[in-house]
Amino acid sequence: METVDAGPRGALRIAPSILAADFGDLAAAVRQVDPETDWVHVDVMDGHFVPNISIGPPVVGSLRPYSQRFFDCHLMITQPVRYLGAFKDAGADGCTVHVEVGDTAAAIAEARAHGLRVGLAANPDTPFAAVAPHLGDIDLLLLMTVFPGFGGQSFMAEVMDKVVLARREIDAAHLAVDLEVDGGIDRSTAATAVRAGANVLVAGSAIFGRPSPLEAARELRDAARAAQR
Ligand code: DX5
Ligand code: ZN
Repeated sequence: METVDAGPRGALRIAPSILAADFGDLAAAVRQVDPETDWVHVDVMDGHFVPNISIGPPVVGSLRPYSQRFFDCHLMITQPVRYLGAFKDAGADGCTVHVEVGDTAAAIAEARAHGLRVGLAANPDTPFAAVAPHLGDIDLLLLMTVFPGFGGQSFMAEVMDKVVLARREIDAAHLAVDLEVDGGIDRSTAATAVRAGANVLVAGSAIFGRPSPLEAARELRDAARAAQR
């Protein structure tokens, strides 16, 4: 399947998390926010790496015809290597694996072999040192601003030190790596994260939990743009 281009590296990206949308009408959800967003963030949970179960490749496949956006799949699963091919075949453009599950180099290589854009994620309490050795091999670093598993949690501001550190390393080494934050992102925390150096903002409740998701996405983007200056 053709992949969708992620857009210029380092550019500001708004990635609505469909975890907060109505699972009975996901197509409508992605279409509704399309004009004010850049990627579609797909949260995949296996009930093992995280204590919750969400969606998998069949849902990605069903949703694919309804969006031309880059599908940013966040795999909160203990066996990502087993499923990368299925996500690619279903229409994923990028897959992000968690460093905590181990065998990171193999997972990165497998994702590449499938032609996926490759992301590496770290939980709030995982040190930057755990992901640093892989920075040269990935396209995106996801620094979680909540413990993964559930939407609607509060942003952990203490993760911003790690975001600052990551941004410094990425820029110092001239790496083409996007820096994504995920969890508790709203207009206020988006600005905080952008000032710290993040350029991809995932937001679930702050978009789909609002009366007008489209308006909420626009406001989030405006707040993030203002913080860039
Ligand atoms: C958390 C997920 C997030 C979550 C974000 O496990 O990875 O993408 O959906 O939701 P909010 O924006 O509501 O914190
Ligand atoms: Zn996520």
